[in-house]
Amino acid sequence: MQGDKDYVGATPSWVIWQLLTRYTRANDLVVDPMCGSGTTIDVARDLGRRALGYDLAPSRPDIFRADARRLPLEDGVADFVFVDPPYSTHVRYSDDPACIGRLDAGGDDDGRAYFDAMDAVIGEMHRVLRDRRYAAIFVSDSFRKQRGRPGGRFMPIGFELFAMLRTRFKPVDVICVARHNRKLDRGNFRKAAEEGNFFLRGFNYLLIGKKESAARDQS
Ligand SMILES: C[S@@+](CC[C@H](N)C(=O)[O-])C[C@H]1O[C@@H](n2cnc3c(N)ncnc32)[C@H](O)[C@@H]1O
Repeated sequence: MQGDKDYVGATPSWVIWQLLTRYTRANDLVVDPMCGSGTTIDVARDLGRRALGYDLAPSRPDIFRADARRLPLEDGVADFVFVDPPYSTHVRYSDDPACIGRLDAGGDDDGRAYFDAMDAVIGEMHRVLRDRRYAAIFVSDSFRKQRGRPGGRFMPIGFELFAMLRTRFKPVDVICVARHNRKLDRGNFRKAAEEGNFFLRGFNYLLIGKKESAARDQS
């Protein structure tokens, strides 16, 4: 068991397994600043990596309480950083006012507060990562129903976060993780898509970047 499949918003463990087998080695330190049910630290430890998990609302004792924008870690100590953040306000993770899941990516501020918060998280991922090592973000775009607009309001979270990643990291890859989610075939989703004439989204982005301080300093 890696993480908790009943935790709403848990990351599929095979996504993390795919990353760690490619981008880390035995004994490397893997950090997840928004660890949720702990999937990342479980997969990392099962693969013989060291792991540190943080969350505003820790779900178990081996996850430490911290805001992902201010991690209690020194610069350059992690060999890999993975994050699966809230995608706007779909899930209520906790009542903590600092929860990024309370910030609306399609809100009246055009999502500014959400995207500023995520920019700070990505900055912190870069700070704690060792040079020449990799970081990954698992995220999806979002829609909100709006009367009279087919498909509702679209929030292109994947592209926005990739743009932020690029300002600090060398872009390495963008993977489309197909969800093959049987839920999409059922009742309301398919019916709403047919009635509203919009596409059913069935994928998440896996955004991968490499820290290259030396190259950046030369430019
Ligand atoms: C999508 S879930 C992570 C799922 C996790 N990867 C798993 O497999 O269970 C997002 C997490 O971000 C946490 N979170 C939200 N805002 C945060 C913040 N400012 N600092 C740290 N964690 C935060 C939430 O409490 C939630 O556990």
